[in-house]
Amino acid sequence: MSTMGESLTGQQPAERGANAPSGHGGAATRRGLRRHRDLLALDDFERHARRRLPRMIHQYVAGAVETGSSMQASRTALDNLQLLPRMFRDVSDRNQSVELFGKRWNAPFGIGPIGGAAFVAYRGDAELARAAASERVPMILSASSLIRLEDIHAINPDAWFQAYLAGDQPRIDKLTDRVADAGFETLVVTGDTPMLGNREHNERSGFSMPIKITPKVVWQCAIAPRWTLGVVARTFALHGAPYFENTDAERGPPMMSKLKRNTARRDELAWKHVEAIRKRWKGNLVIKGIIAPEDARIARECGADGVLMSNHGGRQLDAAVSPFELLAETIALKGDMKVMIDSGFRRGTDVLKAYALGADFVFLGRPFIYAAVIGGAETVRHAVRVLQSEIDRDLALVGVRRLTDLSPDYLRRVAACAAPVSTGA
Ligand SMILES: Cc1cc2nc3c(=O)[nH]c(=O)nc-3n(C[C@H](O)[C@H](O)[C@H](O)COP(=O)(O)O)c2cc1C
Repeated sequence: MSTMGESLTGQQPAERGANAPSGHGGAATRRGLRRHRDLLALDDFERHARRRLPRMIHQYVAGAVETGSSMQASRTALDNLQLLPRMFRDVSDRNQSVELFGKRWNAPFGIGPIGGAAFVAYRGDAELARAAASERVPMILSASSLIRLEDIHAINPDAWFQAYLAGDQPRIDKLTDRVADAGFETLVVTGDTPMLGNREHNERSGFSMPIKITPKVVWQCAIAPRWTLGVVARTFALHGAPYFENTDAERGPPMMSKLKRNTARRDELAWKHVEAIRKRWKGNLVIKGIIAPEDARIARECGADGVLMSNHGGRQLDAAVSPFELLAETIALKGDMKVMIDSGFRRGTDVLKAYALGADFVFLGRPFIYAAVIGGAETVRHAVRVLQSEIDRDLALVGVRRLTDLSPDYLRRVAACAAPVSTGA
């Protein structure tokens, strides 16, 4: 976890830069390395984070809506395609770096937006931003984050900002201007949230916003002191009450108050607003939450620079088609636009499969916030390296040096009764 030496004012001018160590000396680094011994694959991070979190917070992150079928579909779609390796190729000199929006990134994947990250892990957004900057991977700051977007930009000038918008153009314009003034170059507009998904898991575990202090919640907090003291008490002591800082141009309400965030009119958001944003926002515009190829086409016609195909990690519509299932079809009509994807990616081989179909980038959500829970930026960096190392090995084993050398020829559909995938060729 990061240093206690941060500003006590509630603002974070002293929030360290990207390359500053997270307050770890030699002994702490050794502790960090010990801590990482059992973190060999991204799925390991959840197991370790879960032990530190109250059940309701773990469920908030891990949960999926209703039957969980959207989350399951993401995995099934990835598992139904397998890689076809080729032999006797010189695969030395491998390189997984990727160019996207005029920047070269060290990995073909990035850290997706995670709302409330600083309530799950101490200074979660800042830790993710710091790790992303030092590993040179993109990180998307969530609209529902609890640290001011200006402060995250100071830590990581290459971070992107994600907005949840209401169909209210003056409000949209003011927020867009704030994001531009802060210096962000990439704006991500999430489209799959006209209403919040049916998150029964939150009701069952006792999670609500604001958190209601019930006996169940008190007990969960009592048996998870690393979270109660290490995240909640420490945040209040060093930074004051957390606020929804970035939903609008103005600061939103405190997270723990009965005052509700203004989520009104999100169900009025429409393509006309995306067109208007395109006219006003001079940076890269990415539309997140796309599943239907037809929506990607509309995004392209609105002037978007990219789409991030996603089912929100199975947290919005249940029984939705997996974005991966429609990746090739979407790529076939992308034109100059970048097609990125998330939801369910956990292994280097998953990333290779997306690139074989022609994806331009991959994002992951949950594994990185679990990493931040375990050991702040240092463990997030470890998570990035775990996936990078898998990708490097997988490139060699599949028989290519670059992700762009992959094509649908390296894939075979294996599930007996699955529909054939369109390769977009
Ligand atoms: C705890 C949590 C909070 C999230 N908050 C946001 C958010 O604020 N904005 C958004 O666009 N997506 C949000 N997402 C969705 C992620 O950005 C991403 O689409 C999803 O986690 C990808 O699936 P994965 O977790 O299986 O990698 C959230 C996901 C989780 C798990």
